[in-house]
Amino acid sequence: MTNKTHYSILTGITPSGSGEVHIGNYLGMVTPFLKLQENADKIYLFISDLHALTTVQNKKELQRNVENLVLSYLAFGIDTNKVVFYRQSDILQHTELQSILNNVTPLALIKRCHAYKDKLQKGEDPENINMGLFSYPVLMAADILLYEPDYVPVGDDQRQHIEVARDIANYFNHTFGQTFKLPEMFGIKETARLIGTDGKRKMSKSLHNYISVFADEKVIKKQIMSSFTDPTRIHPTDPGKIEGNTVFIYHQLLNENKQEVKELTERYQTGKVSDVEVKEKLYLAVLKKFQKERALYQELSQNPDKIKKILAEGAQKARQQAAKKMLEIREKIGITNKYSSFSYEK
Ligand code: TRP
Repeated sequence: MTNKTHYSILTGITPSGSGEVHIGNYLGMVTPFLKLQENADKIYLFISDLHALTTVQNKKELQRNVENLVLSYLAFGIDTNKVVFYRQSDILQHTELQSILNNVTPLALIKRCHAYKDKLQKGEDPENINMGLFSYPVLMAADILLYEPDYVPVGDDQRQHIEVARDIANYFNHTFGQTFKLPEMFGIKETARLIGTDGKRKMSKSLHNYISVFADEKVIKKQIMSSFTDPTRIHPTDPGKIEGNTVFIYHQLLNENKQEVKELTERYQTGKVSDVEVKEKLYLAVLKKFQKERALYQELSQNPDKIKKILAEGAQKARQQAAKKMLEIREKIGITNKYSSFSYEK
């Protein structure tokens, strides 16, 4: 990834959809993140709850989504000694900086952004697009620039936003003098294109073609039992195809018993096993794979005080950096003057 031996990273997760983590997120985002966690010196990981407001405009839903994500990431074992884990909305400097960056951001730059353009393409009237969506890349630039990370690990769909963050940083630096370090993108989620249970499209919550990691066993079973296999295979005695067969794709990625996968593959190709058995074995393999994480999730969900403390500690560390950077920015733009005595309360 990098030839630097010391580096910091920052990334955000938006609590949209249901906030549930599925196996596509696990393989594409969580696993690479846990690897990065071993090597980076400093990591900022936050729940971008303000970004979610562009689409989630329902109190209960937002609360549930954030809870799901917080529990999931902690259950996956992020190391909170190393990872500064916090909620975006807990750090007021994000919105403060967004407000300032708005003034060095050309309209044309934002009009070129996907989030906005996609909406237009879907036939949305540009007059009705909310300002949160429009200014989404500016808030994202603020999220990043406050913390001066070396790398921002995100999926390809966010590439443009990182470029915009760099552009905005450049505009600011030109206007007010060198202030921001330009972040570099690191394509962590590029492997995230796991095929969904419909066998057609990328696994995604909005398409309902996913397998959750932390849902009830019954839910997971149902998701697995309805996965796409080989549509031309009618009887268990028919030889079946492995290619494009989601159940086998998942077996290969998640079943830690490689011998079982090999045997099931052979039996499937020679018409000696039913789809149902292959799926049941996958169900058991998934539960086994995430046994530890699922238990921890349950335990944490019964311990809100513990979570609260973790998030408060994360916020405190994040705030320290954000306030330091923000004071520098206030100075640069001339909001401070000889009459000022402003400070961020601790
Ligand atoms: N928009 C990102 C996503 O949906 C989440 C995000 C918000 C983010 N702020 C960020 C990612 C800052 C990286 C850096 O995936």
